Amino acid sequence: SKGLPLFGKKVLITAGPTYEAIDPVRFIGNHSSGKMGFELAKRAADLGAEVLLVSGPSHLELTHSSVTIERVTSADEMYKAAHKSYESVDFAICAAAVADYRPKTIADEKIKKKDDELAITLVKNKDILFSLGEKKQRQYLVGFALETENEVENAKGKLQRKNLDAIVLNSLNDYGAGFGTATNKIAFIDKNLDIKTFELKSKADVALDIWNEIIAHTNA
Ligand code: PMT
Repeated sequence: SKGLPLFGKKVLITAGPTYEAIDPVRFIGNHSSGKMGFELAKRAADLGAEVLLVSGPSHLELTHSSVTIERVTSADEMYKAAHKSYESVDFAICAAAVADYRPKTIADEKIKKKDDELAITLVKNKDILFSLGEKKQRQYLVGFALETENEVENAKGKLQRKNLDAIVLNSLNDYGAGFGTATNKIAFIDKNLDIKTFELKSKADVALDIWNEIIAHTNA
C-alpha cells in the first residue's frame, strides 16, 4: 500500500548459486542455498516493492503477490535475466554466488572414467554485478562480498571497482555467517566507505537491516 517505504519501487535481486555444466550429468557449483537473496526479496515485497528475483538452482520457494521468480541455471543465463529487467528497476541487489569460471566446452556425452588425472579447462564468466555497475543510471546498486581474508579492504575494493552504491560484507571467518546457514553476520559499507556492522542474526532480520540501510541512504 501507499504508506510503505518501497511503494511504487521496482527491485531486482539475484540469489543462489550457479551451476556450470561439465557434461550432461555434472557441473561446477557452490554452497549457496539462495536463502539470503530470497529473504531480501520477501522483505522488499513486504515493504511495498514489485520484485524480480532471479535465482540459480535452489530448493527454496517464495509465494508473494509482488514477487516474480525467474529460475536460471548458469551464470550466463543469470546475466541475461538480470540485464533484461535492469533498466526498469530502482534498486538492484546481487546476492547470488556466481561461478567466476565455467568449463570451456561442455562434453556432449558423459565423460568416461579413464586416466588417473583429468583436466578441465575453465574460462572466465562475465561479472554480472560489474556489468550492472557499468550500465548504472538511476539504480541504487548493491553488491555482496563473501570474503575469507582482508575482508573490509577487499569489500571496499569491490565496491569501487564495480561502481556500486553499497556493498554487504559477510565473512566465512564469522561463525554462523555465509553459505547455507539460517543466520548471517554482515557489515554494510556505503559509497563514502562508511561501515556499519551488525550482530549475528537470522537472514530474515539481516534482510530487514539491509533494506533499512538502503532506505536511509536513498530517502526512499
Ligand atoms: O545463499 P545463501 O546460502 O543464503 O548464502 C548467502 C551468500 C553467502 C551466497 C551471500 O550472502 C553472498 O555473500 N553472496 C555473494 C557471494 C559471492 O559470490 O561473493 P563474491 O565476493 O565472489 O562476489 C562479489 C559480488 O559480485 C556479489 O554481489 C556477486 O553476486 C557478484 N558477482 C560475482 C561474480 C559474477 N560473475 N557475477 C556477479 O554478479
